[in-house]
Amino acid sequence: MSDYWRKKYEEAFGRFTGVMGARAFCLGRQALAILLKALGVESGDKVGVCSFTCLSVAEAIKVCEAIPVYLDVDKHLCIEPQEILRQEPGSLKVVILQHTFGIPGQLEELLLACEKVGAKVVEDCAHSLGCSWKGEPLGKFGEGAIYSFQWGKPYSTGQGGMLTVNSKKLLEDVDSQIRELASPASTKSELILECQRQIYSIVEGLRLESYLRYMYTTLRDIGSYKLECDFRFYQGYPRLAGEMTAKTGSKQLENWPKLQQIRRQNTETVEECLNKAGLALWPKPDEADVTMLRYPVLIAHKSRIVQQARKQKLDLGGWYMSPVHPLQAEDLLKVNYRIGSCKRAEDMISRLVHLPTGVGLNKKIFEAMVRIISQN
Ligand SMILES: Cc1ncc(COP(=O)(O)O)c(C=O)c1O
Repeated sequence: MSDYWRKKYEEAFGRFTGVMGARAFCLGRQALAILLKALGVESGDKVGVCSFTCLSVAEAIKVCEAIPVYLDVDKHLCIEPQEILRQEPGSLKVVILQHTFGIPGQLEELLLACEKVGAKVVEDCAHSLGCSWKGEPLGKFGEGAIYSFQWGKPYSTGQGGMLTVNSKKLLEDVDSQIRELASPASTKSELILECQRQIYSIVEGLRLESYLRYMYTTLRDIGSYKLECDFRFYQGYPRLAGEMTAKTGSKQLENWPKLQQIRRQNTETVEECLNKAGLALWPKPDEADVTMLRYPVLIAHKSRIVQQARKQKLDLGGWYMSPVHPLQAEDLLKVNYRIGSCKRAEDMISRLVHLPTGVGLNKKIFEAMVRIISQN
């Protein structure tokens, strides 16, 4: 029975993104791990990854026993194409092109660079649902792509992930990895997630979303939130999306045009406020049609701004806090990141905040955020 709803969700997602096939998981990182395995990534292989990323991505690489190779960013916070060209041909099995905050960076140069060094391309579309390049949806430019539907993503099912592929052969390989390694969602975690979704929709209805984020960040800061860096690919690590999550996902997908419209409208309002305050707008490539997930602004006094925003319970994001968010100091070494190795990413991270674009926001909120930025 649960297969029925998951398959319906996968078909709808595949139709929506115009790909050969889609498979739904409990988390985006599980979708990525299965996709990497289906692409032949094995122990000791190197996988190129953006140096403005998060633990989920590094985890997916590490559970395949592969080695993440961090590539420095360009002005869009996507991989700088020269960074790929600097790698020895044949040394990278796959490069994950992350479309940060919805922007695909210098996509054509990136694809060309991957081809030159002989790396397969996976697109990380966790931030970029509904975005396109020269009219073609993102997710269609590599071998396959992954999406995340965690809180704060273009649309959310609380937790959730999807992989999509662009060839029949890869879909067969993905399905064979799923048969071998994946388990169905556990009923207990499906029920917990469903409760969280109900609570979240009440909180969202009451416009209290930023309070939730504030609580989450505070809990993490005082240490009651523990980071695991245990990279084992045990039987059942990847779990297929359960029935309730698949039903929620299908509904969210139907609702997407409305959500997208809200994000686009809010992005215009943010740009209006930034313009009025004389602050720089974020660069977008002309070829891309972008629905921004968050709107970045480079500033001088990050910690002051983030602290003031938190005092006012405003969701002015300061993350990513490190090249592999939220890892710090020696934890970065556990995912093979050496501090100082991607200087541009580290510099931008130290000067970056970003505004939300999702539901429940209005001009007054954006003006309050921009006021904090421009007063500092
Ligand atoms: C860039 C990026 N890729 C992939 C993911 C996958 O995340 P998850 O496994 O939490 O769904 C995320 C989620 O935060 C992300 O931000």
